[in-house]
Amino acid sequence: MYTKRLIVGNWKMNPVTLAQAKRDFSAIKKAAVQYKNVEAAIAAPFVFVPELGKLAGAALSLAAQNVSSEKEGAFTGEVSAAMLAPLKVRYAVVGHSERRAMGETNSQIAGKIKQLLAKNIAPILCVGETERDSGMWYLSAVKTQLEECLAGVPKSALGRIVVAYEPVWAISTTENRRDATPEDCAEMRLYIKKTLSDMYGARAAEGVRVLYGGSVDEKNAVGFLVGGGADGLLPGRASLSPKKFEAILKIAHAVNR
Ligand code: PGA
Repeated sequence: MYTKRLIVGNWKMNPVTLAQAKRDFSAIKKAAVQYKNVEAAIAAPFVFVPELGKLAGAALSLAAQNVSSEKEGAFTGEVSAAMLAPLKVRYAVVGHSERRAMGETNSQIAGKIKQLLAKNIAPILCVGETERDSGMWYLSAVKTQLEECLAGVPKSALGRIVVAYEPVWAISTTENRRDATPEDCAEMRLYIKKTLSDMYGARAAEGVRVLYGGSVDEKNAVGFLVGGGADGLLPGRASLSPKKFEAILKIAHAVNR
């Protein structure tokens, strides 16, 4: 059973240079040492993974932002879980809305999860609706994502999965974005837990951390963690500033259960 909240910075396609990536990662790691109630990770672009893996440790772990759904072979441009595993990659984000927008399907995401579990890398499965509607169909959209992406995951492996709820309409780069509220987060967290409980039983569902992501910063983090009940956060833009990311870690440390 998890105890610490998990804060994962999603750097997306940033920064431009390896030198900057190493500087930022080191600065965050130095800060993270102080916040022992929190687990911190940075999801970095593939090209930085080998070097950042050398810096990663207990205070700050390394995550990939994607992985191939295939084991090996003729898949130009892809990176396999077996390639990531020896590079100290502890987590990998899968099913991010920006990749789903490029055409990634639930069944491909299910393949990625299978590959990651086989190599002992914990998947961070992103789910989230593109719009909210008064008929609450957004709940069933997320349910379908969970059911289809977790299709091959046995109950015994569920505890290794992290779910990140990221309403696409609240992500910082979405056009005409709106702020999600702690209540939005709390409602969906409960619904995700209920769906997992229906799929795997209440005990197994209890062990799954549900993170919140979508314009998380040092100002709203406390609301999502306390009112929203999030088991962690997945900030994108704010994670590009070591200072802002540190502020989020500090808050998560302070509000720990
Ligand atoms: P954001 O990104 O914090 O910049 O909205 C979050 C994400 O897309 O993972």
